[in-house]
Amino acid sequence: MQTRPIGPFTVSAIGLGCMNLSHAYGVPPSPEEGERILLAALDAGVTLFDTAALYGFGSNEKLVGRVMKPHRARFTLASKGGMAGVQFDDGLKRVIDGSPEAIRRDCENSLRNLQTDVIDLYYLHRWDKRVPIEDSVGAMSDLVRAGKVRTLGLSEVSAATLRKAHAVHPITAVQTEYSLWTRNPEIAVLDACRDIGAAFVAFSPLARGFLSARFTDVATLDAKDVRKPMPRFSPENYAANLKLLPAYTALAAELGCTPAQLALAWLLHKAPHIVPIPGTTKLDHLKEDLGAATVRLSADAMARVEALINQQTVVGSRYTAQANGEVDTEHFA
Ligand SMILES: NC(=O)c1ccc[n+]([C@@H]2O[C@H](COP(=O)([O-])OP(=O)(O)OC[C@H]3O[C@@H](n4cnc5c(N)ncnc54)[C@H](OP(=O)(O)O)[C@@H]3O)[C@@H](O)[C@H]2O)c1
Repeated sequence: MQTRPIGPFTVSAIGLGCMNLSHAYGVPPSPEEGERILLAALDAGVTLFDTAALYGFGSNEKLVGRVMKPHRARFTLASKGGMAGVQFDDGLKRVIDGSPEAIRRDCENSLRNLQTDVIDLYYLHRWDKRVPIEDSVGAMSDLVRAGKVRTLGLSEVSAATLRKAHAVHPITAVQTEYSLWTRNPEIAVLDACRDIGAAFVAFSPLARGFLSARFTDVATLDAKDVRKPMPRFSPENYAANLKLLPAYTALAAELGCTPAQLALAWLLHKAPHIVPIPGTTKLDHLKEDLGAATVRLSADAMARVEALINQQTVVGSRYTAQANGEVDTEHFA
């Protein structure tokens, strides 16, 4: 597998997003199936594994910790805090809390769940707008000094917020949604990352399944699937978006790859500081996704695929109004 740098780490050009093994897309796979995917990814040369306190309210970190502990020296471990499950009278709920106390607490919980002494890359999962970014990152920099995390990252922040944070402590990576159908980072964040020497980790690089061209029926979505309320996955909008796929699929075939591989190869060709982290629960999909690292795209192919799928041709916004309120609004400027 080709490699790319993320700060002091050299990681596989394609990492593994572990979220799907415990969270988000309907009924998650069994722990045994999750274990098979993690170990298969490691065997295939993946050396970046991405999890978060939020995913399965700790169960994803516990899975990664249990399975990957014997192999800890072989990969870069990324996790996130500042958005986690908090126990209320009526159950566990997702809470964004970027206060220094919450960051310290989340990190301790993550270290325990992950069965490790140190997390290589620790992200603030969302900027908590009630807390100055300098305060959250200040608390995270204390974690670096204490040896609990090695480097810091931010998720879904604007270029302006990134620069403020970077003035407090070097930011090693920004993780934000980026794919053919979500181009917001092209406004400013990709350039800001390059300017400060940070990597850009592209999450949901397959447009949550859309760009695989295999997920065609939103009526099959489980009630708890996080895609269900997303505007692009509403039955009307998704039907319109599906009309983009025949030309896209034909282009992938012409280029000698699958639609999923075209989506990932496009990201790898956009800039050398981009590292996509697709997520999957299936071994054959994993193999296919990692195969994107060998796909070569000409400038002409890049232009053709970009013209087919972009924010002008896609119908619907990526998030609900509530979720949009939780990301850094300057990001959409
Ligand atoms: N920082 C953040 O706020 C944030 C938010 C979301 C995600 N993330 C991270 O990004 C990672 C990936 O994002 P994601 O899972 O949302 O989106 P994604 O990677 O764009 O898409 C995942 C979906 O695509 C399907 N898929 C993957 N490969 C496929 C293939 N070859 N053929 C057909 N279907 C395929 C998966 O289904 P199967 O299981 O059937 O393969 C799954 O439904 C997550 O695991 C997480 O680590 C971060």
